[in-house]
Amino acid sequence: MINSLQKGLEKIDIFGQTITLNMNKNANYTTSFGGFSSILIICLLSIIFFSNISDFFSRENVFYDTQTTFSNDPHEMVMNDSNAMFALSIDQSNFTTNPFFNISVEQRIYTRSLDGSLNKTTIQIPLQPCMLDRFNNVVLNQGIDLDFNDEFNYLGMNKWLCPAQNYKFQLEGTYSSEIFKFIKIVVTGCKNNSNSSYWNPKCADELQKNNYLKSEGQFKLQVFQINTMINPQQARNYKTMYLDSDMYFSFVPYKLARLANVYYRQYLVNNDQSLLPYQDIKTEEVIIRKAEDFRDLTELGRDTDNNFATLYLRRSPFTEIINRNYQKVGDLLSYLGGFMQILKVIFGFFIAFYNRTSMLIELSNKLYDFKEVTNRSFLRKVALSQKTEQRGSIPDEISNKLQNLQNTDLEKAEWKQFIDKLLERSQPIRLNIKILINQMSCGYFFNNNNSEFFTKAMLKINSELDLHNILHQLQEITKLKSVLLQKPQIILFNFTPKPIITLGQDHTVPTRLEVAEDLNKQSYIKASANQLNEELFASLQEAYKMVTEEMEDSPNINPCQRTINFKLTKQIDSELGKLLKNVRLSSYKINESNNNNEIQEDHT
Ligand SMILES: *[C@@H]1O[C@H](CO)[C@@H](O)[C@H](O)[C@H]1NC(C)=O
Ligand SMILES: *[C@@H]1O[C@H](CO)[C@@H](O)[C@H](O)[C@H]1NC(C)=O
Repeated sequence: MINSLQKGLEKIDIFGQTITLNMNKNANYTTSFGGFSSILIICLLSIIFFSNISDFFSRENVFYDTQTTFSNDPHEMVMNDSNAMFALSIDQSNFTTNPFFNISVEQRIYTRSLDGSLNKTTIQIPLQPCMLDRFNNVVLNQGIDLDFNDEFNYLGMNKWLCPAQNYKFQLEGTYSSEIFKFIKIVVTGCKNNSNSSYWNPKCADELQKNNYLKSEGQFKLQVFQINTMINPQQARNYKTMYLDSDMYFSFVPYKLARLANVYYRQYLVNNDQSLLPYQDIKTEEVIIRKAEDFRDLTELGRDTDNNFATLYLRRSPFTEIINRNYQKVGDLLSYLGGFMQILKVIFGFFIAFYNRTSMLIELSNKLYDFKEVTNRSFLRKVALSQKTEQRGSIPDEISNKLQNLQNTDLEKAEWKQFIDKLLERSQPIRLNIKILINQMSCGYFFNNNNSEFFTKAMLKINSELDLHNILHQLQEITKLKSVLLQKPQIILFNFTPKPIITLGQDHTVPTRLEVAEDLNKQSYIKASANQLNEELFASLQEAYKMVTEEMEDSPNINPCQRTINFKLTKQIDSELGKLLKNVRLSSYKINESNNNNEIQEDHT
């Protein structure tokens, strides 16, 4: 049960590790050129995206959506000194001191009871001559850098009436709502006996009114207000305020009456301040009169009229919701990531090609030695002549050795020579621009030895790397086991212990690969490489000594073992063999001519 649960869990693990082969103890083959290109691409990206990133941090990129909701019973909206200001007047000179008409503002509250009766409440909102400060305070309160000084002065707004200080306009619901609140502005006749602490004008006389009517043909009620405009796509100052002066209503008492409804919409601006994936919403409420939210009616006046013009300010049933948010870190990263992918595809093509070529060359150099067939005999001759020269001096060395068998200086020197020769002899494939062009042109350009070696080595590697080939080789090992061993032996073989990993110094069996690695390192860490070489050489020498001893002390050795030893010494690198033999010679005083013959044999 638990087992099957575990199996099921294992199946849905999304972090499963891909199983890959390693090269140079690394799952990825990387080159310094690739690293350099990566830095270059990152720099390029940084330059290209610098503006994006700086825009991101300075919150320049804004995304928004808008939505309009409708409600038959829109909730309350309050206008006051901090968010709205109105100015009212009759078009005439000296309105505040000698008005033709009286303007009054009422807050109306209709409450509908369950039995259908309607309870009407009227609250007078006193008016007083306007002051510039009150207009400027509104924009100040809304955090907008603006003032109305010029407009106020040239429109002569100190001769207009504004709602008295600390006024409150409440707008809520519609006529059919349970609670219906609206503002009623009415133009009535002027009365001189008013006794108010706000506005106590002396009414203009009939003559003045008639003169005005004669020249203008009608009277005019003017309404100015501070209105707001929203540009949600703007990163900063998305809210602007302006003096809205396009509302006026003409009327002629007892002849032409005006009645108008003006609707105000509530705007809810949800600003997501956060740049991170979570939301940090600050909601701002703005009251806006849109140009179309206006309904007006002109009627014939009657002799009984008290109200010459009536204006209702009402809550619009529409509410606008604007959701704004800045570009988030996730958006930015996916944007950068997408661009980076594209750059990687464009530039990566060449870099990947370079890395692959470089990897194959390194692999080829590690796996194979390269030799031109035509030059072979020549190289051999050179090697031979060198050998004979060396050999010429051997007798002296032998005598030295005889005196001090422990003197290893000579051996060291010879070992070094061997290493040098190894370097000189295996002409490694060199990675250069020619070979890259050759590879890219499918062998058309720069077809030289270097590239031919490489092509051949690549074919060989690719065929050896074939899964089919690898499995075949493994099968062959099994077959070999069954050829060499009998069944009981195989069973015993199969039960040999696993290799053990211990802490501390590992005792590994030395291999040729270590020499190759040393060769690569030698250029920059010479000292340690030399030391390692000596150890390696010592163990190699020891091994050779034992194998050849076994070959010579024939009587008590089994013939099969002897054959293997013989084959091994044959297989070993001819020059390395000679070197080892020489060392052995020097220490065991074996007949030199005999040795000479053997070497001759080797070379033919
Ligand atoms: C204007 O009308 C209001 C309300 O009816 C009244 O209180 C006020 O005294 C009037 N003012 C003038 C100057 O007629
Ligand atoms: C006007 O009001 C003041 C006090 O506010 C009062 O003393 C005065 O008598 C009033 N005048 C009239 C005409 O009502």
